[in-house]
Amino acid sequence: MQTLTVVGLGRLGRSVARLAALSGAYRLLDVMGRRLPPLEEARAFVGAGRLVSDIRQLAPADLYLLAVPDAAIASCARALAAAGVAPEGSVVFHASGVGDASLLQPMAEQGALTASLHPAFSFADPGRAVEGFAGTLCALEGDEEACRRLGAFARALGGRPFRLAPGGKAAYHAGLSVASNFLVALTEMARQLTARAGVPPELTQPLLGGLMRQTLDNALEMGPYDALTGPILRGDIGTVERHLEVLADTGLLPAYRALGRQVVALAGDRLQEPARQQLLSLLY
Ligand SMILES: NC(=O)c1ccc[n+]([C@@H]2O[C@H](COP(=O)([O-])OP(=O)(O)OC[C@H]3O[C@@H](n4cnc5c(N)ncnc54)[C@H](OP(=O)(O)O)[C@@H]3O)[C@@H](O)[C@H]2O)c1
Repeated sequence: MQTLTVVGLGRLGRSVARLAALSGAYRLLDVMGRRLPPLEEARAFVGAGRLVSDIRQLAPADLYLLAVPDAAIASCARALAAAGVAPEGSVVFHASGVGDASLLQPMAEQGALTASLHPAFSFADPGRAVEGFAGTLCALEGDEEACRRLGAFARALGGRPFRLAPGGKAAYHAGLSVASNFLVALTEMARQLTARAGVPPELTQPLLGGLMRQTLDNALEMGPYDALTGPILRGDIGTVERHLEVLADTGLLPAYRALGRQVVALAGDRLQEPARQQLLSLLY
C-alpha cells in the first residue's frame, strides 16, 4: 500500500488526509504542522498518521502533500529539500489553484517527482468537505509519472482527475475566477441598477435570480454562442445608448463597456457591419 505524508493540517490538508485514510488505498504516514494544540485536534479529525512538528522527523513516504498556504509552498519545499526528506522517485505535490509544479523545484532537484493537484472544491469546513467530496474535478499538472500516480490518488479519494496543458495553470485559475468571482461582481452590478430603477429589495432576488439561472443554464447547455440574446446581438444602438446614459454617473461604465465588447465579439457575423462598428465606437 502507498504511503502518504501531509504537511499542513489546515482546511484542505486535514480533509484530504481524512479522505485518504478512509479510502483504504493509502496509509497515512506522518501528518505535520507547526502548532501542537490545533494539530492534535486535526489529527483526531484525520484519525490516522503520526503527529510530527519538525520537518526533520518526517519518515520516507511515497507521496508528500504540501497543504500549506500558496505563499508558503516554495519555502516549505526548500525546507524539505534541506532536511533531505523525500526519497528519489517519491511524489511531492501541492494543491494550489494557480501555482504550478515549479514551486517544488528544490525537491525535483533531489530526484522527487513534482506536480500540483487542485481540487475544484471549497474545503471551508473539513467535516462537510469529506462528506461532499465525491465527484470533485481535480486538475493535475507537472511531471508525467507524478500525474499518473496522483490521478490514481484522486480517484481513490472519490475525485475525477484531469490533466492541464503544460504552463496552463494561470489560465486555468483565471478561468475559474472569472466563472466564480466575476459572476458575483456581475450580480452586484445588476443589483445596483435595479435598485436605482426602484425595484423593491425583496424582488431583487426573484427578478435577477430567475433570469440569471435561466441564462446560465442556457449558456452551459447550449453554449455561449447560441445562448446569447439582447440588444447588442440585435444591433439595437438606441438601447445601448440609453444604457450608457444611465450608467454615466455610476462607476459601472468601464465594466459595461468591456463586457459589451465581449458580447460584440461573441455575436460575430450575426451583427451587420455598420451596427457592429457603431456599437464598438460606443463601447470603447
Ligand atoms: N481551502 C480550500 O477550499 C482550498 C481549495 C483548493 C485548494 N486549496 C489549496 O490548499 C492549500 C492549503 O489551503 P488551506 O485552505 O488548507 O489553508 P489553511 O486552512 O490556511 O491551512 C494551511 C495550514 O498550513 C500550515 N502551515 C503554514 N505554513 C506552514 C509551514 N511552513 N509548515 C507547516 N505547516 C504550515 C498552517 O499552520 P498554522 O496554523 O501554524 O499557520 C495551516 O494549518 C493552498 O495551496 C490552497 O490554495 C485550498
